[in-house]
Amino acid sequence: MKEFVIKGDIIYLENKNEIKTYKNHYLVVKDGYCQGVFPHILEEYKDYVELDYSNKLVIPGFFDLHVHASQYQYRGTSMDLELIDWLNKHAFIEEAKYESIEYAEKSYSMFVDELKNGFTTRAAIFATIHKDATMKLMDLLEKSGIVSYVGLVLMNRNSPDYLRLKDDKDTLKMMEEYILESKKYQNTFPIITPRFTPSCTKELMKGLGELRKKYNVTVQSHIDENPSELIWVKELEPECKNYTETYSRFGLYGGDHHCIMAHCIYNNDEEIETLKNNKIFVAHCPESNMNVTSGIAPIYKYLDNGINVGLGSDVAGGSSLSLIRAARQAIQLSKMYYRYVDQNARQLNVMDAFYMLTLGGGEFFGKVGSFNKGYEFDALVIDDSKIPSLLDFSLLERLERFIYLGDESMLVSKFVKGEKII
Ligand code: GUN
Ligand code: FE
Repeated sequence: MKEFVIKGDIIYLENKNEIKTYKNHYLVVKDGYCQGVFPHILEEYKDYVELDYSNKLVIPGFFDLHVHASQYQYRGTSMDLELIDWLNKHAFIEEAKYESIEYAEKSYSMFVDELKNGFTTRAAIFATIHKDATMKLMDLLEKSGIVSYVGLVLMNRNSPDYLRLKDDKDTLKMMEEYILESKKYQNTFPIITPRFTPSCTKELMKGLGELRKKYNVTVQSHIDENPSELIWVKELEPECKNYTETYSRFGLYGGDHHCIMAHCIYNNDEEIETLKNNKIFVAHCPESNMNVTSGIAPIYKYLDNGINVGLGSDVAGGSSLSLIRAARQAIQLSKMYYRYVDQNARQLNVMDAFYMLTLGGGEFFGKVGSFNKGYEFDALVIDDSKIPSLLDFSLLERLERFIYLGDESMLVSKFVKGEKII
């Protein structure tokens, strides 16, 4: 279906500060791109297929900027430890299983199936150190219609023997092969993924910086997540003035395609400036930050400072792939930040949450996350009549109720790049 018109109750952000709501309007899509929203079907679109979603909400897709496919199987368990112990006791043991391609295929099929049937239209994903298993994940994602960036999770120090890359030359060669092999996909892209500074030596980081330059591939990683992690990073890299510099010094920041840093809870002002100057995308992962007892990220500082922010489910630090949950948690956590940490902080609202869900995360993937003319059409059709009430609500109130009360049972249809995948 190349050309179609969608009828429904349409809501999207024109930009960060401007929301558009159209009751009973028509959204025109051609060759995967939004053409505009109109009160009736214009003559030039008369021949387009009409999809009637009257009384349903039509909103942009959601973008998961940080999720570990390889931790999917134990989601909802193992919330008993803080980050470093949690990695050693839970994450690494599970990730080791992906040496088996059979396990990887079974597990990643389940992960991709849930992703496809949920609200996420595009995602930035961590796999494991295993190339064959990671390519299997990429195959499955490509078939699903979801757009994704997938990272081989690199670790060459402070990791158990069974999950440590032993030879940097071999590692960089494997990375290069995986970047080149990924060219066969249309919607699935490689992303350079040093797990985090404690897992990667300077030599490896330097090699990754060079690879990045050579192939213009973007980067994702973790930063400033947990107090004991910060102390450890200082011990490991005493010559760096902060955590951010452990990445930026090797050219892992900046470039044409901006990278994603998950968490950003404890960044100081100088680090925030570096994030801004390098147009980094902050992946805010509120549920993970609670579950692994990491802290509360001061997201308003990033939003109000012109830094890109999207949401991350961070499964399995987060228990759920559902970004609508992450959105409400982000608002709620910001209120706790205001109450307990800093009464000068701004509390986030529904508009901030909708921004992070759509345009904020979408921009990582290009012109997507809005229905502005010329944007790629990623969309969700939501039946919010499943949240009964005796009251009449405006479109904005319906969006608010969806953010607080919505779940995947309300998803009627889903479009990615103009293709209907549900
Ligand atoms: N830091 C390094 N690895 C991880 C991980 O797997 N999850 C989270 N939440 N933080 C990390
Ligand atoms: Fe993570």
